[in-house]
Amino acid sequence: MANETARNIGPVILLGPPGAGKGTQSKQIVDRYGIPQISTGDLLRDNIAQGTALGLQARSIMARGELVPDELMYGIVATRLREADCKRGFVLDGFPRTSGQAGWLDAFLETEVFDKSKKCPPVVIQLLVDYNQLLLRLTGRRSCPTCGRLYNIHLQPPLVNESCDVDGSKLLIREDDREELISGRLNAYEQQTRRVADYYRAQGRLVAINADRSVGEVTAHIFSVIDEHCPGGC
Ligand code: AP5
Repeated sequence: MANETARNIGPVILLGPPGAGKGTQSKQIVDRYGIPQISTGDLLRDNIAQGTALGLQARSIMARGELVPDELMYGIVATRLREADCKRGFVLDGFPRTSGQAGWLDAFLETEVFDKSKKCPPVVIQLLVDYNQLLLRLTGRRSCPTCGRLYNIHLQPPLVNESCDVDGSKLLIREDDREELISGRLNAYEQQTRRVADYYRAQGRLVAINADRSVGEVTAHIFSVIDEHCPGGC
């Protein structure tokens, strides 16, 4: 069997609505394949925390649960994908989110990132989850500010109320997980990001999987899709 942390994996794109489990599953992919997670939500939140010009522009947009304009996204994504740790592949969590971003990414991957002789086409996995389950996942989500571990007070609670099992830090609620914002985020997904799934479906690249199962079952399914996509490494 190929060494999963040495072979080329190529881009793995996780699509799905807020709460579908993109972040949760990205961490499993990182652990198994040794490729980095590129979460555009995390990149934007880092920019906000650091008070950069991008962060100042993104802050109010994200607080309303809307999408940040495409033109603001391209620079941060391009900069991150050009870093050395992306050469064997990467998992994209939260990008592309509009058909414009999907077209931009295809053009970018054509010309950058990979040595042409080793280029792997992206594997695009869409996580399908029932609407009511998404509401439970988003209203119950908590994260550890120290180690980044995700919990859910309804579905995957910590052992001790509101504290991280690993380091005991007090768990945080994400600013955009307030109930009044959640339906707006899910609507933004319906209106914009579903078109991204259509874009990849039309190219025969979309693999839709049932993500309304346990974390472990979804992870096993994702690993099988990645391994079948590129069995011996690219
Ligand atoms: P972003 O940070 O990308 O958030 P999102 O897409 O709204 O997705 P989430 O992080 O909410 O959900 P997830 O699918 O990662 O689920 P998770 O694994 O955490 O984006 C935030 C904002 O940034 C956007 O609204 C937008 O403004 C902006 N933005 C980002 N990218 C952009 C772009 N490309 N263009 C424009 N704007 C952009 O899981 C959720 C919960 O469920 C957790 O509690 C978890 O423990 C639990 N859970 C997960 N899987 C399971 C399971 N199988 N069973 C039970 N519980 C589970």
